Amino acid sequence: MLVLAIETSCDETSAAVLRASDPGTRTSGTCPPHSAAAQGPGTRTQGTCPPSSASVPCSPLPAYAPEILSNIVLSQDEVHAPYGGVVPELASRQHIKTIAAVVGEALSRAGIGLDAVNLYAVTQGPGLIGSLLVGLSFAKGLAYYRKKPLVGVDHLEAHLEASFLENPGIAYPVLGLLVSGGHTALYRMDEPLSCALLGRTRDDAAGEALDKIAKFLGLGYPGGPVIEKLGRGGDPKAFPFAVPRTKDRSLDFSFSGLKTAALKHIREHRIVRDDPRLADFLASFEEVVARTLVDRVRAAVEIVRPRSLVLCGGVARNARLRARFQDFARGAALDAYIPSPKLCTDNAAMVGAVALKKHARCPTEIPDLDLDAYARA
Ligand code: KG4
Ligand code: ZN
Repeated sequence: MLVLAIETSCDETSAAVLRASDPGTRTSGTCPPHSAAAQGPGTRTQGTCPPSSASVPCSPLPAYAPEILSNIVLSQDEVHAPYGGVVPELASRQHIKTIAAVVGEALSRAGIGLDAVNLYAVTQGPGLIGSLLVGLSFAKGLAYYRKKPLVGVDHLEAHLEASFLENPGIAYPVLGLLVSGGHTALYRMDEPLSCALLGRTRDDAAGEALDKIAKFLGLGYPGGPVIEKLGRGGDPKAFPFAVPRTKDRSLDFSFSGLKTAALKHIREHRIVRDDPRLADFLASFEEVVARTLVDRVRAAVEIVRPRSLVLCGGVARNARLRARFQDFARGAALDAYIPSPKLCTDNAAMVGAVALKKHARCPTEIPDLDLDAYARA
């Protein structure tokens, strides 16, 4: 079984080919109607994804990790960098320009032609609607032309799946922390293709806070990697940031207070781009963001009592966050899994992995041309 997956939810044009070869052991499950619009993990505070209410008994799910034959990611960073953030109109235009070449490269690196593809997968949302529509239309065109099934995938579910691509045997229940440029959320997963939202950010996502501070200092876009690079070697205790606490027992996050505190430090200490204190400041900010995230994981562990922890999303590339997350897991005697960096940021391999599971559970032979894009979780 070969899947060609496409991801264009934001500012990366990505295509991947995955091969599912080993049927392995199987777990039974349920599936939604094929025509139902995908609803990702962010849409519910309780329940499963796909929604259990719409479920019908369906095929068992193979427990194996597919092989990634290619995973091409073309970043649009250079297009958006002059604006300090993603410009949606430019993003969709850029996807239109590059998608055919990216898909062609994914097929050629995998050493296959379109005739060998058994299944098409595409990100439906959440994301920038114009960008999503480029990938979705392209995938629909291919699936219709080749008369093969097309599976819509939720972007957040795909990020969570990235860890399972490299570690198919992760023990459930799993507590998942997703940290990206658009989302920061905690999920409980009891079985494959199932997740319940435990908490999410009430304002900025963690990546967004990093991007905004970098933009304010004129450091470039995306902010996370720049802050990591320029903060390396800085003293993370140099600037006093406090980990924000919520008054209720909620597992929600909030980063707007931290962002305001950072802007206050910048103004009070007159920190500028080539300031000798810049590394200390960036290391301190990065540290408090990492501690805030891990603090919520600690609270969630008390409630969920998971067997494993998963960290995913673009910000999971950050070495400081990876270290804090692993430190916490070791102290709590829990297994922790973090995808390798290239699988943390947006990529089509994670989309293909979800599609293979969905298709294994609910096989269909026809392309679902009713799939629609959705902007919000
Ligand atoms: O998951 P992703 O590729 O796209 C979204 O779905 O949003 O995440 C992008 C985010 C951006 O905010 C970027 O600044 C952040 O991930 N990021 C990082 C690092 N690499 C990317 N943040 C901190 N450290 C990094 N090394
Ligand atoms: Zn993402």
